[in-house]
Amino acid sequence: MLNFEWYNPTRLLFGADQIAKLKSLIPPGAKILLAYGGGSIFQNGVHQQVVEALEGYTVVPFGGIEPNPHYETLMKAVELIRAENISFILAVGGGSVIDGVKFISAAVKFAGDPITIIRERMLIKENAIPFGTVLTLPATGSEMNSGSVVTIAATQEKLSFGGEALFPQFSICDPTVVQSLPTRQIQNGLIDAFVHVMEQYLTFPQQADLQDRIAEGILQTLIETAPKVLQNPSDYQAASNLMWCCTMALNGLISKGVKVDWATHAIGHELTALYGIDHARTLAIIGPNLYRVLFESKKEKLAQYGKRVWQISAASDDQIAAEAIERTTAFFKQTGMPTTISECTEDADKAIPFIVARFKDRQWTALGEHQNLDLEKLEQILQKSL
Ligand code: NZQ
Ligand code: ZN
Repeated sequence: MLNFEWYNPTRLLFGADQIAKLKSLIPPGAKILLAYGGGSIFQNGVHQQVVEALEGYTVVPFGGIEPNPHYETLMKAVELIRAENISFILAVGGGSVIDGVKFISAAVKFAGDPITIIRERMLIKENAIPFGTVLTLPATGSEMNSGSVVTIAATQEKLSFGGEALFPQFSICDPTVVQSLPTRQIQNGLIDAFVHVMEQYLTFPQQADLQDRIAEGILQTLIETAPKVLQNPSDYQAASNLMWCCTMALNGLISKGVKVDWATHAIGHELTALYGIDHARTLAIIGPNLYRVLFESKKEKLAQYGKRVWQISAASDDQIAAEAIERTTAFFKQTGMPTTISECTEDADKAIPFIVARFKDRQWTALGEHQNLDLEKLEQILQKSL
């Protein structure tokens, strides 16, 4: 196991009716920016609960943070905070609102042009405005990590950044929010969390036994939960299992002490930037094809995954590894995911030249846990994904 340090200061409040505790979490007298997305919080009762819990505070609303949040939109909130002397931000929404708030929090006191935070994928260690979150969509894990992904609409760039000053001070995770989610977003949450685990787990045997078994436990729980929560989003126990899996998949725990991959996400972000495909759907398309192209370097772990998560038995480990990829694709399809770019756009052919040129420009020519994902392999992955 590699040396590691784990820091995660986010206070997590999990369960029904926890929104009422907001008052005990935000400093008295704080002037709050209430940041939200396109308005789902007005339909599902979350806004009402938040407003009631914040009685007595001065609250300035900021809505309109779009999925795959735009730098251009977020800068309007930055200006509002500066003009109104706001001291605390409350993000009420899914990963996009929370990520957007992380950028806003970093940008307000940033010396220089805040676009640099995204372009140079800066590490933000200080000078951020404190914020908390009320999660309305289990998927990204953003509620308990310090990462953020923001799109610069003008140049169609979707880039991640982060840093220890960008952990939420608290996050309220109430599984009853799953009831109001469109099926598409439940599908997205399941598969985003699944692939988060795979990015940290599906590398090569690293003798990190506990990390492996926690990862396998999350994967198995997601597989068991998927049909239940899709069939009945009001099933509180199923929704709770989904929500906790999503948080645990990306709160830092399972990546400690091991080398990780994250190339599926890097490629997937380009598909979102180019075509607007939902984040999780890009992962369902790219993930299995990446495992196929990098089969030789991932096959030992694929075989472990096949045996422990899918209980596959076959004559050889190579067969188990290959079958494990097929099971993964079948699971994604059963969950309602597309597994090719052509299912999402008529313009699939653009993907290869666009993404290969992007990676070349950024000198992303050695991704993955072995730095063996070069431009040639990238092209092969995309070719299989068309
Ligand atoms: O905007 P509103 O009206 O709230 O509607 C949203 C949005 O249209 C809707 N929604 C959310 N909660 C709802 C609801 N509708 C009904 N009832 C509710 N309870 O769902 C739609 C999608 O929301 P969004 O926040 O975009 O989805 P998600 O949580 O999947 O976030 C995706 C973003 O997170 C980034 C992705 O790249 C993408 O930009 N990620 C962030 C990560 C992180 N910070 O650690 C890691 C991930 O890998 C990911 O990259
Ligand atoms: Zn993701």
